[in-house]
Amino acid sequence: MNSHDVSTLIMGGTAAYGLDLTPWRPVQGPFTLQTPYGESPPITLLQPDPGQPPVAFCSRHGRDALQHSAAFLNHRAVIWAAKMLGISTIFSWNGVGAIAEGLEVGNLVTPADLIDFTRKRITTFGHPDLRPASGPTFHPAARAAIIASLPNPNPIPIPTYVCTEGPRLETEAEIELYRRAGADVVGMTLSPEIFLAQELGIRYASLCYVTNYATGRALGRAPKRQFGPVVARTCLPILIRAAALIDH
Ligand code: HPA
Repeated sequence: MNSHDVSTLIMGGTAAYGLDLTPWRPVQGPFTLQTPYGESPPITLLQPDPGQPPVAFCSRHGRDALQHSAAFLNHRAVIWAAKMLGISTIFSWNGVGAIAEGLEVGNLVTPADLIDFTRKRITTFGHPDLRPASGPTFHPAARAAIIASLPNPNPIPIPTYVCTEGPRLETEAEIELYRRAGADVVGMTLSPEIFLAQELGIRYASLCYVTNYATGRALGRAPKRQFGPVVARTCLPILIRAAALIDH
């Protein structure tokens, strides 16, 4: 499938579309893989450091533009494609709304657990011979590699991510419910990706970029949103460093 020994996939979220990958030295692709669940998104192999093995990269929402929002992604195709490539670790970046007090737009958090409030997503490959997803939600070693690559310590040491169905934004009452349940940040993308990866034995961890205050959580602050290229320019180098730290 590819002539390179690639073991890490970086899944780009917010602002990964249309990203100029030249500074990260693309060495193969973009190519797609045919999976039992349909075609994978385009995958590019990057080798920013010639002394390190290449890492695979793909943009979750579309290569050139925001083509598929969170509620309309083919999660099974991309995770199966990762398995076909021989990937053992997925590092993802995900845009999130801030629920916890003290979180600011532009902050980075590394979730330690997840509450799944999605309703219509397929969270399993449904193969009787695959072990059901279990164990720590985010792989501890993969998460530690991201934390070690952060420029600043996590503003929240053990953050919880709540995943909502979308495509609509949450109501204020829903966010209040999630806050009371212990959620610190809200997004729409980590479920079922992480559970499908667990089923296939792929380590998975996420770097969350706070793009906005969650509904009703501006707490007197002026509204602020950051969905621009700075999200990708911040997250990609951190995850590339994490890839160099994780041993396979
Ligand atoms: N809600 C859900 N998903 C999100 C948000 C949000 O406020 N911000 C970024 N992804």
